[in-house]
Amino acid sequence: MNHPIIAPSILSADFANLESTFHMLNESEAQWIHLDVMDGNFVPNISFGMPVIKSLRKLTRKVFDAHLMIEAPERYIHNFKLIGVDVLTVHYETQTHLNRTVDLTKKIGMKAGVALNPHTPVSLLKDIISELDLVLIMSVNPGFSGQKFIENTYNKIAEAKEMILAHNSKAMIQVDGGVNAGNAPKILEAGADVLVAASYIFHHDNPIEAIKQLKYPKIL
Ligand code: DX5
Ligand code: ZN
Repeated sequence: MNHPIIAPSILSADFANLESTFHMLNESEAQWIHLDVMDGNFVPNISFGMPVIKSLRKLTRKVFDAHLMIEAPERYIHNFKLIGVDVLTVHYETQTHLNRTVDLTKKIGMKAGVALNPHTPVSLLKDIISELDLVLIMSVNPGFSGQKFIENTYNKIAEAKEMILAHNSKAMIQVDGGVNAGNAPKILEAGADVLVAASYIFHHDNPIEAIKQLKYPKIL
C-alpha cells in the first residue's frame, strides 16, 4: 500500500509564528500544506486570504493545497494561481456551474478539487468524476479545527473510491476533519490518498512526529 500524502492544515498553528511553523513543515515529511480559506458566509468563521498565502509562498516549496470555504469561489481562480496555489478545491455546495470552475482551474495550471460537506452525497459527483484531480470528503462540518470525526465518512470514502475506479478517474481522495493517528489506518483502508490534519499535528508535543505517525500508521 502506498503511504498517504500528509497535508497539515495551518489553521491550528500559531499565527504569530508562521515562519517557525513553516520551518518545521519544511523539515517534516508533509508533502502538501493545506490552506483553509473561510469567508464568514459559507462557513461561520473567517480565517485568512490571499495576501497571507502570497507571503507564505516565500517560506516553502511544498505543494499549496487551498481549501476554499467561500461563496462563489470562481471569482478568484486566477488570483489563487497568481499567488502560487497548486491544488484548488471548491465546495460542491457553492457551485451552479461546477464544470466551468473545474475547467478553468485546470486550464490555468492548477489541480482541481471538489469538496463535499458531510451531508452531501458522493453520488452527486458521478458525472464529473473523470474530470477531477481531487475529491475532498469533509469528515466534520467545515469552519473550525478540533472537531470530532464523523463515522459515516468511512462509507463515503469507499463509495468515492468505487466511483473513481469505475470511471477510470485519476482523482485522489482527501479526508479533512478530526483526523488523528487513531483513525488514520481505517481512513486509509477505506481508500483515502491525502490526509489533512490541523489540531492533531499542531497540538502535538512533537509535530514532526505527529506527521510521521499519520504517514506511517501502525496497524497497516
Ligand atoms: C475545517 C477545515 C480543516 C481543519 C481541520 O473546516 O477544513 O482543514 O483545519 O482541523 P482538524 O484536523 O483539527 O479537524
Ligand atoms: Zn480544510
